[in-house]
Amino acid sequence: MPRTEFIATGFHVPERVVTNDDLAQLMDTSDDWITQRSGIKTRHWVSDGETGVTLAREASCRALANARMEPSDLDCIVYCTCTPDHFEPGNGVFLERELGLTDIPAIDVRNQCSGFIYGLSVADAWIRTGQYQRVLLVGAEVHSRGLDKTKRGRDTAVLFGDGAGAAILGPTDDPRRGVLSTHLFADGRHAEKLWVDAPGLAHDPYVSEQLLHEGKHRAVMEGKEVFKFASILMPQSVAVALRANGLTPADITLLVPHQANLRIIEMVQKVTGLRDDQVYVNIQKYGNTTAASIPIALHEAVCAGRLARGDVLIFTAFGSGFTWASAAIRW
Ligand code: COA
Repeated sequence: MPRTEFIATGFHVPERVVTNDDLAQLMDTSDDWITQRSGIKTRHWVSDGETGVTLAREASCRALANARMEPSDLDCIVYCTCTPDHFEPGNGVFLERELGLTDIPAIDVRNQCSGFIYGLSVADAWIRTGQYQRVLLVGAEVHSRGLDKTKRGRDTAVLFGDGAGAAILGPTDDPRRGVLSTHLFADGRHAEKLWVDAPGLAHDPYVSEQLLHEGKHRAVMEGKEVFKFASILMPQSVAVALRANGLTPADITLLVPHQANLRIIEMVQKVTGLRDDQVYVNIQKYGNTTAASIPIALHEAVCAGRLARGDVLIFTAFGSGFTWASAAIRW
């Protein structure tokens, strides 16, 4: 059975940069509070005319160009997002249309901050079994239009940003390289600890003035609980990835964690016992871009020369659901 390799990556964020001071103009917050609690300094927000799919299209076109491939070379699209442009259909088909394609499958993965690793797991299984040869894996989010930019929502509004990251995946026969493993986890007992309640068909009517008035269409979060579980479960998922492949922390060239919060990343680094140069961090620039955060960080790390052939790369993520996941890759 072949392994799955990353053929190329790419990313795109909107031009508009929003600083912590900009946010302080909109709501009762400060650069100090945001920096101390999260490490975030700026994030990117979409402007008129931009959507999750337009961000995904730009990221995908860059990844395709880096792979020296055309959209017509693709066999399949795996689109990871928790902020779809529309309730139905999923963003995958809109991206397919934007790429000028009409006859390949497009699947949408709804696993929030763990979305990119869940999507990678799906793509990896298809590639290893030979069902698809060239898979476009995208993580793209537009949070800015959904955030509650008042005092009520300031605990979440300051954390999230918009952006897209993409990877082109395909089979390799080199037994020393490729995706070594993916491990996926979920615990729905915590579903309401970070969620968007409405619109949703659990409500009748599924959208109403009252739901909007109550802010049920906004992301709400029990921040301390999210922090506690992420700090425990992300390092655990890294340990599982290492154990499954007979590796130790010293073997890791680069850990690319989901960029949720600098303090969570520091906790993962400490518990796992990694040096600074083994962990990639860019949350200060982009905030939490959910399913896009790992592919954006991966592309930056690749461009910065942080990964060479044969290096061990680990992904770990945690988010709403709760869902969490890890992947081990030999670059
Ligand atoms: N600016 C200023 N003050 C804020 C604020 C903001 N953006 N958001 C909340 N506050 C206030 C609170 O109202 C509270 O005020 P009070 O003491 O007068 O009641 C105070 O700051 C402390 O709030 P608290 O919720 O105890 O802060 P915290 O130390 O738990 O930090 C988070 C809040 C959200 C930064 C933290 O819980 C966290 O990082 N959680 C994980 C979030 C995350 O990563 N989510 C995504 C996972 S994928």
